[in-house]
Amino acid sequence: MSSRADVSPTPVILDVDTGVDDALALLLATRSPAIDLLAVSCVAGNANVDQVVRNTLLVLDTAGAVDVPVARGADRALLDPLRDARHVHGEDGMADLGLPPSTRQPSDLHAVELLRTALEQASRPVTLVPLAPMTNIALLLRTYPHVAQRIERIVFMGGAAAVGNATAAAEFNIWHDPEAAAIVLTSGLPVTMYGLDVFYDVTVDATVAAALSASEDPAAKLAGRLIAHQVQRLGGTAATIGDAGVVAAVIAPDLLTTVSHPVRIELAGTWTRGQTIVDRRAWVGDVVADPHGLPPADVDVALGIDSDRARRLFLDTVAPGLPDPGDST
Ligand code: BDR
Ligand code: CA
Repeated sequence: MSSRADVSPTPVILDVDTGVDDALALLLATRSPAIDLLAVSCVAGNANVDQVVRNTLLVLDTAGAVDVPVARGADRALLDPLRDARHVHGEDGMADLGLPPSTRQPSDLHAVELLRTALEQASRPVTLVPLAPMTNIALLLRTYPHVAQRIERIVFMGGAAAVGNATAAAEFNIWHDPEAAAIVLTSGLPVTMYGLDVFYDVTVDATVAAALSASEDPAAKLAGRLIAHQVQRLGGTAATIGDAGVVAAVIAPDLLTTVSHPVRIELAGTWTRGQTIVDRRAWVGDVVADPHGLPPADVDVALGIDSDRARRLFLDTVAPGLPDPGDST
C-alpha cells in the first residue's frame, strides 16, 4: 500500500565537476518531482574547481533552480596533481557554448561545510550522489564522521568492473582521486557503483538533440546543445547522457541490475592505479580466506541498465512532450 511518505521526493545532494554530463544530471535533478535537491558541491575534475563552480551556477540558473546552494570544494585530489578532462568537455569544461555567466555567487561556505550543514539540517537521511572525483566526500567523512548517519546511501558515478577510460584499467573519477574513493568505499555506508559498465549505455540520438536544441525552454535547449556537442566530438549518431544516468537510477532504482560484491581501489600499480577491483569470485571460501581481509561492506555494482527506459525518463523529465524517435515502444 502506498502512503504519503512513499511519494515524497528523495532528498539528494549532488557532488559535481560540471562537466557536460554533470550538467545533464543537474538538469534532470532540478526538473524531477521525485528529487528534492538540497545542495550542490563542486570539486576539481573535468575542469578546475572555479570553472566547475561557474558551470554549475550557469546550469542551475538555466533550470530556474536559483535557490539551490552551491559551494566550491577541493581544488585538487588528496595526493595527485591537478588534472582535467578538457579533451572531452571543452576548454571551459562545458562544451565551449559561449553562454553568459551566472550573476549569482556561490555559498561563502566551503563545500565540506555546506555538505555537513545540509546533511545535519535535512529532515531525513539524504542520498549522496558523487558524479566526480570523491575528494569532497572523503574530506567530509574524515572531518565530520558523525554525518555518515545522515546519509541514506551513496550512489556514485565511477569505476568499472570491466575496462577503464582514463587508463586501460581506471575510470576517470576514481583515477583522479583513488585515495578519496578508497575512503568512501571503506566507510561502511551503503554504496551503489554506477560505473563504465552502464555509463555509455543510455544515449540520445543526434536528431533528438537537434529537437531539444530548438526548444524554447532554456533547460531543454541547453541539454540539446550539450548532447549535440558530444555527438559531434565523437563523430557518431548519438551520445551518452553520462552522469545523468545516475540521477535517473536514483529516481528509478529498478532501472539498474546490480550485484553485491566487495570492491577495492587499486592505490598502487604502474598501469592500474585507480582501478576498481570488483571481486566476482564465485566461491565464497576463496573470498573469506583472502589475505587482504574483507572490506566493511559490499558495494551494489551496476552491471546492467534498462537504457530505453532511462533515456525516456531523462527526456520526459527535461523536455516533456518531446517526441522520442529512439523510442520503439
Ligand atoms: C566520468 O568522468 C567525467 O569526465 C564525467 O563527467 C563522468 O563523471 C566518466 O568517466
Ligand atoms: Ca562528472
